[in-house]
Amino acid sequence: MSRQLIVDVHTHVYPPSYMALLRARKTVPYIHDPAEGADPRLIILSSDDDPATPPDERGRPVDASYSDINVKLDFMKKHDIDCSVISLANPWLDFVPKDEAQEWAERINNDLESTCADVNSEKDKSLFAFGALPLSAPSSIVVAEIKRLRTLPHIRGVIMGTSGLGKGLDDPDLDAIWGALEETQLLLFLHPHYGLPSEAFGGPEVIARYGHVLPLALGFPLETTIAVTRMLLSGVFDRFERLQVLLAHSGGTLPFLAGRIESCVLHERKFVANGGDTPGPKRGVWDVLKTNIFLDAVVYGSAGLQAAVAAGSHDRLMFGTDHPFFPPLHDEDEKWPSVTTNYKAIDSCFGEKDSESIGMVLGGNANRILKLGFD
Ligand code: URA
Ligand code: ZN
Repeated sequence: MSRQLIVDVHTHVYPPSYMALLRARKTVPYIHDPAEGADPRLIILSSDDDPATPPDERGRPVDASYSDINVKLDFMKKHDIDCSVISLANPWLDFVPKDEAQEWAERINNDLESTCADVNSEKDKSLFAFGALPLSAPSSIVVAEIKRLRTLPHIRGVIMGTSGLGKGLDDPDLDAIWGALEETQLLLFLHPHYGLPSEAFGGPEVIARYGHVLPLALGFPLETTIAVTRMLLSGVFDRFERLQVLLAHSGGTLPFLAGRIESCVLHERKFVANGGDTPGPKRGVWDVLKTNIFLDAVVYGSAGLQAAVAAGSHDRLMFGTDHPFFPPLHDEDEKWPSVTTNYKAIDSCFGEKDSESIGMVLGGNANRILKLGFD
């Protein structure tokens, strides 16, 4: 039997043009170059930019793995990954001034497309991409970019954060964008960046005490959960029944909390958004989870993965790595624990008797859902 196809749907890049954009800035997000030739520092989370920390130590080191596609290809080889669907990493183009957003989106998306085309001309179908959206521009420009992305041969969807046009994902002004995504059937990869306000964790001193653990382990997944719940409560999935969304990190905490969300909706008398005495969303969470939502398998444990399978389905779950984030801390030649943990979680979630489901999660689902064209 030939080896199972492995597709990574959650893997990021900062193309060189985006690195230059970050280097030119002095406020979050920015790249700082230490004087002594050490790796540049990437300061992208607001909690990274603590004035009490010297700039040379702020944020995290950003090496070639963020921008050099050959480093990603080596990483794929090391971990037996056949194909990666690359996406710009957070915070995408959210911070770009409104009158520059369209140009940056076109430039970065063209960079992504040509990277995929160049690599695929040498290696068979190794790379596809999710495009980035110029969300600070008027929505007509965003819609135009979505339609243009549909014509680029290696683009399979778009990546987006949770702020939308600045007011969150229940903003009615997003309807034109949801409509364009539905019409083009480009998958929306919803990914966190902003986390939770620092007060949720006890303030900036508490966060700093534990490095990135609180914002990344808890802030990110809750941010995703809140964003998608706001979409659901405001009826986005009632109005756009064919919208397809891939949620990062196995849906944050959505699979675990879906029942509670559904129950609270059923017990709520005041949907002020809908006129005060009218019912909330017509479609329930479980239905949306099985119809509109896909989950990645980036959850690092079989308990979380089992919740994702139970809430969604084994044929809606797709392997991912979150490369180049979470590299090994000590031995850079070893396989990345952040990747092997996800492989192990998939194996133990389904067990060796269910190799068919394992195969689907590792690559079969991505191949079908994203129309990658593997036999
Ligand atoms: N940290 C980030 O800032 N982004 C990711 O995607 C993962 C970790
Ligand atoms: Zn990610």
